[in-house]
Amino acid sequence: MADHLMRLPLQHRLPALACAYHCLPQLPRPPTVVNSVSCLSGPGGRKRNWNNTTGFRAPRRLVLGLGASFWAQFASMAGVGGGGGGGRQFVASARQKSAIEEVLKNMEWPEQFPFKEEDFQRFDESPDSQFYESPRFVTHIDDPAISALTKYYSEVFPPSNTPGISILDMCSSWVSHFPKGYKQDRVVGLGMNEEELKRNPVLTEYIVQDLNVNPKLPFEDNSFDVITNVVSVDYLTKPLDIFKEMSRILKPGGVAIMSFSNRCFFTKAISIWTSTGDADHVVIVGSYFHYAGGFEPPQAVDISPNPGRTDPMYIVYSRKASTA
Ligand SMILES: C[S@@+](CC[C@H](N)C(=O)[O-])C[C@H]1O[C@@H](n2cnc3c(N)ncnc32)[C@H](O)[C@@H]1O
Repeated sequence: MADHLMRLPLQHRLPALACAYHCLPQLPRPPTVVNSVSCLSGPGGRKRNWNNTTGFRAPRRLVLGLGASFWAQFASMAGVGGGGGGGRQFVASARQKSAIEEVLKNMEWPEQFPFKEEDFQRFDESPDSQFYESPRFVTHIDDPAISALTKYYSEVFPPSNTPGISILDMCSSWVSHFPKGYKQDRVVGLGMNEEELKRNPVLTEYIVQDLNVNPKLPFEDNSFDVITNVVSVDYLTKPLDIFKEMSRILKPGGVAIMSFSNRCFFTKAISIWTSTGDADHVVIVGSYFHYAGGFEPPQAVDISPNPGRTDPMYIVYSRKASTA
């Protein structure tokens, strides 16, 4: 079914629901204990052309439309319902789950980065330092999503206590969702709130830095094996600058793992995120890797633990090209 969908002509994938709001408010949840325990991606698909899935010249808030129309189309063909408001109901079956992993396969990207300045505007343009001034000792996704992420990390991270391994958790807080007891010589957290970072047990050091003011990462070239970013890539207003920096500081072959759900601080997330759906988000993050340069083709993994019932969880990752 997913493969059939990929062959749909443009008019069947137009942004019928592009104005729908798919990013559910990031509501505080009670603090949870990080559990430990899986997932990786699969086979190829057919050549996909960005221009056949997206609408670049659409006005602000009428952007990609891939997600909504993609899922609506899928849902109607698969007879599983969905197609209305919130993002969750689109992800309702295992067949859809595999479809999201197809989104980046064989993507033919346009020559130029397709997004405009206005795509990175937010409803709340006040300084992020104000918004994040008070600590939030909460989790932003539900326990099954956290467990799924931790399980994924446990499969792809270097083994705990491997000499010489350095990890950067970008947009970090008091939790990083790493496997229980996971340790490396150097685990750096970079975020906005010192109180939160101080309480994060996995970090060996932390830095408070507003990446939307200063996207330069204060680290040496080729110094990290892994970069993580959990449910926060949607707050970056200068993503290309930051992804270029990520490429610079990763060791060749090092991996950057961006994970996200369908929740966000709506007023602080970029316009292009709040006006699109889950599959679009995969394309948006994939485009950051592609246009930043220095990375292998990005890949998507759907680690949603209970599709349609609990928070979805998606990974878009890429390795620094060994020739970069
Ligand atoms: C939704 S929270 C996620 C926190 C943590 N990664 C987690 O999984 O719970 C968003 C995080 O992004 C960070 N953040 C938001 N805007 C930022 C910015 N401009 N520069 C650096 N970090 C930022 C905040 O410090 C906050 O910890």
